[in-house]
Order: sequence, then C-alpha cells, then structure tokens
Amino acid sequence: MNYKIRCFDCGTVVDDPFLDSCPSCGGVLTIETDLDAVASLRPRDLRSRPLGVWRYAPFLPVDETRAVSLLEGGTPLYDCRDLASKAGVRSLYVKHEGANPTGSFKDRGMTVGVSRAVELGCKTVGCASTGNTSASLAAYAAKAGLGCVVLLPSGKVAAGKLAQAMFYGAKVVTIDGNFDDALRVVRQLSRDGTLYLLNSINPFRPEGQKTVAFEIIDQLNFEVPDRIILPVGNAGNIGAVHKALVEWKTLGWIDRMPKITGIQAAGAAPLVRAFREGREDFVPEPNPETVATAIRIGNPVSGRKALRALYDTGGIATDVTDEEILSAQRLLGRTEGVGVEPASAASIAGLLKLVNEGEIDRDEKVVCICTGNVLKDPDTVIRNCEPLLNAEATAESVRKVIGA
Ligand code: F0G
Repeated sequence: MNYKIRCFDCGTVVDDPFLDSCPSCGGVLTIETDLDAVASLRPRDLRSRPLGVWRYAPFLPVDETRAVSLLEGGTPLYDCRDLASKAGVRSLYVKHEGANPTGSFKDRGMTVGVSRAVELGCKTVGCASTGNTSASLAAYAAKAGLGCVVLLPSGKVAAGKLAQAMFYGAKVVTIDGNFDDALRVVRQLSRDGTLYLLNSINPFRPEGQKTVAFEIIDQLNFEVPDRIILPVGNAGNIGAVHKALVEWKTLGWIDRMPKITGIQAAGAAPLVRAFREGREDFVPEPNPETVATAIRIGNPVSGRKALRALYDTGGIATDVTDEEILSAQRLLGRTEGVGVEPASAASIAGLLKLVNEGEIDRDEKVVCICTGNVLKDPDTVIRNCEPLLNAEATAESVRKVIGA
C-alpha cells in the first residue's frame, strides 16, 4: 500500500520514521492511505483469504510477505439474542477480541507495528502499558527476535497481563506513577534511541487496529450496523475504527457510517466531559481511577482523534461506574457465555445505560467491541463472584452445599 505519514492536526507530512509526534505542531500522527491504489479492488477480492488482520493487507502500510504474525484477528462476532432482549435493542452483536492470540485486540495493531519495527531494522521495541499492550508486544517481539522493554504502572496491572509480559521474556519495569507517567518516560526513551516506540501513538499500530471494523462489516455481509460501541482509554482504537469506516465509505464499500460510541470509566473520563461540552479538545484527568485498570488513563494521547470519530459519525460518549462495569461483565458471561475483562465490559455497560436513557433507539442493530479476555484479570473476577463452596468428599455433603 502507498501511504504518507501526516499530522492529524495540521496536515504536515512527516518523513522521519522515528518521530512520535508532529515536528511543526506536536500533533498526533496518522497514516494517509492512498485509496486510489486500492480503488479497483472489490470486497469479494479479499474473501479468498482467511478472516483475520492480513485479509486486509491492501489497506495496511507494511509489506505482507515479511509480516510478523501470530494469526491475529478472525475473532468471533456473536449474535447475542438473549442479551439483546435484556438490553432492549433489536439486535446486538459482540465482537470478542479476547479471542486473539494474546487475549486482546492489541494483537491487531502489534502485528503491523512489529512488522514495521523489523522493516526499519530496529533491535529493541518498547511501550508503556496498562497491561494488554505489554503482553502483546512481548509476544510479537519474541516471535520477531527483538529485545522488548515495557513500562507498567506499579501495582495497577492485572495478573494475567503481567504474567504474559514476564513469560514472553520482556524486560518488565514497574513505574511509580500511572500510565500517563509511564508513557511520558517511554517517549523520552524512544527519542534518545533506546527503543522503538510501539504505543498507539505510533501511527502504524492503529492501522492494524482498523481491521476490527473491516471484520465486523465483513462478518455482517456488508450490512452496516447502526452503532459500534467500544471502551476508550488512550483512544487509539476508537480513532482506528473510525479511519477504517471512512476508508470503506470513501471507496463506496459501505453506504453509511455506524454511529461510533465511546465508553469511559467514570473515574477516568476526560473525553466524555469534553464531548458533553461539545469541545474538540479535552482537559486531562490528573488522578484516573477505576476497577477497569486497562482504561485507567487520564491523558489519552489520541483524544482528539476520538472526539473527531464521535462528532463525525453522530455518535456519543458516556461514562459508566465500576459497579455498572462489573455487573455488565457478569451479565454478558452468564447470559451469553462470553468472558471479557472489566474494561471490555464497559461497552456493554454503556449500551445498557444509553438504552435506558433513551439515547440509543430500541430499533437499532448494535455491535459492542469487547477488547480483552476474562482471564486477563482473574483477581477481579474472584473478588466479585459468589464465594467458593466447600464440602466433605461425600455426595451427601456436596448435595447439601449446593442446595440440591
Ligand atoms: N480495552 C482494553 C482491554 C484495553 O487494554 C485498552 C487499552 C482499551 C480497551 C482502550 O483502548 O487505549 O485504544 O482507547 N489498553 C492499553 C494498554 C492502554 O496499555 O494495554 P484505547
């Protein structure tokens, strides 16, 4: 694919592949896809390839033949009829991104990001993370034979994610501070050449993350849903979903845009506040806090891209409390058998809230993106489920404790 790296804010074209922001205005960078180069393609041309990130290679800015891949994407899109009726909408699909190789949607961006790192000849890659990005990067760096350094907010990363980053052999550094502090430090390490930065501020990451929207449309046989709901933390993913839909709309592959709807945790919701005030910019939250540690972020790097996605598609942003998140997580698990981590359940919690408030029409066809697997954060699950039952090793004792 032909492309340019461009500033999202001022439009400056950037040549230096190692910059993490615009040299003119400091804005966030984006990839400008050359849609003329894919204009002769038709959706059916892609269908001979397996469902997954690399089905959409003509829309990705790296050489497919040298891709570092763990066969990411191709995740299930569940038609959740029982949950739809509980939520009070006509139809509800859940895109289970927890079914990716390392258990989160980050693998979509990481296959493209790490392929880019290899293309540039980098030896060490790194990121700041609330957990999933680090787990994913560690795995792809292992596959590519690269060194890997991850910076995590001390004491605030779920056990499954921490275990993964350690397991795949990354240098795991915990930082006395939150995600925003870790990102500030890792950007310095990237600027002085210590590592190649693979947070979503690197515009190659969102390119891979675009493919979740391509897949949803593909799996729905190009019947565009009315709305796509997703959790928002650092705001890389929501901008990527928007970019994907704009590309296919421009090509005429879809005839309208779903309303993109972003959900933040109430204790970490700077973009929701900005949205409610109709602003293009946001005021960071200095002390983000939520049980959904994946989205415990106060200063989302791609916040402006997120606001653009909401305004351009007539979408909406709202926040949900920790209680709403945990109860939506259980509801999804116990109604549909789909296990997701707390941050991912924010999309379901947001759906329930917005239907109740009359913001989402009961006649809508909705897709909720659930970003990470329930196994990522076993401690939160165990804390919030009914306690274990204990019995003597006899059938009678078991019957008694289960109330049979
Ligand atoms: N859901 C999960 C499970 C996440 O891990 C994240 C972000 C998000 C949603 C929000 O996505 O940042 O693109 O808006 N996790 C990052 C990390 C920050 O380090 O793993 P976003």
